[in-house]
Amino acid sequence: MAYNLLKGKKGLIFGALNDMSIAWKVAERAHEEGAEFVLSNTALAARMGDTDLLAQKTNSLFIPADATSIADLENLIQKTMDHFGGKIDFILHSIGMSPNVRKKFPYDDLNYDNFMKTMDISALSFHKVLQTAKKYDALNEWGSVVALSYIAAQRTLFEYNDMAEAKAALESIARSFGYIYGREKHIRINTVSQSPTLTTAGKGVKGIDALIDFTERMSPLGNATASECADYCITLFSDLTKKVTMQNLFNDGGFSSMGMSYRAMEMYNRSLDCKECHKDSDDNQ
Ligand SMILES: NC(=O)c1ccc[n+]([C@@H]2O[C@H](COP(=O)([O-])OP(=O)(O)OC[C@H]3O[C@@H](n4cnc5c(N)ncnc54)[C@H](O)[C@@H]3O)[C@@H](O)[C@H]2O)c1
Repeated sequence: MAYNLLKGKKGLIFGALNDMSIAWKVAERAHEEGAEFVLSNTALAARMGDTDLLAQKTNSLFIPADATSIADLENLIQKTMDHFGGKIDFILHSIGMSPNVRKKFPYDDLNYDNFMKTMDISALSFHKVLQTAKKYDALNEWGSVVALSYIAAQRTLFEYNDMAEAKAALESIARSFGYIYGREKHIRINTVSQSPTLTTAGKGVKGIDALIDFTERMSPLGNATASECADYCITLFSDLTKKVTMQNLFNDGGFSSMGMSYRAMEMYNRSLDCKECHKDSDDNQ
């Protein structure tokens, strides 16, 4: 159901790769809510993914950019402003990648060049987007910027690896830049901390299926889907959330406030009862 929440608003959406992507769902919902936007992703992602299809479907322009490259971002911001003939109202940063996760380097044997790339792609790119947008004065007053995060920024989750550091930095950038943008332009900057979700990036996390099962059992409202994440992002881009800024907002069905749930305890008890499972359990993990 559409409410015209973004009627007349213009935006820039990073990170839609295919129809599983959270950014894809945000783009579809933003379109339904009356927004116009430019889509961006790397040139490689455009070739490998279905970005053209989304651009057609939402009547939007696709401009390639590597979000770690200032030259690409400057070109993107300039072209986006030319396209709209002025400033934009919202930005979605939905970008994440860890070469250490991809190449299976464990946390206690990280490759540091990879670590730098993880930080650059998944966290510093957010700073680069915000700094470039500021340089070109690209955002309208009372605009809104959202980046996607994960609870591994605050808690240790098995196998999330160096993405945990990237998410912690991402959330900190939202606060630090949120102060500057708020003070100078009344623009709000928040991160949305999403439940584990089966996307291309999500599937790269080792044990994602078990993690999704665990968080589903632990969350009183169940895991949030990519579409539910999109709904939440739309409210943050709308004028209904004008004084919400510098926050990390959990869209996780309550998981972040839980310690133990009945449904998780039940599962744990079942596995303790199972002698076979008990025998095979590995205390080192
Ligand atoms: N899937 C989950 O479980 C989950 C949970 C919480 C948060 N998130 C976050 O949501 C965001 C979106 O991920 P997703 O789950 O939709 O997966 P996804 O794989 O669909 O999206 C990740 C996107 O990042 C883009 N990207 C990678 N390197 C880039 C670069 N250098 N420049 C520009 N774009 C680049 C990819 O092309 C891709 O479109 C990420 O920040 C991710 O960490 C995901």
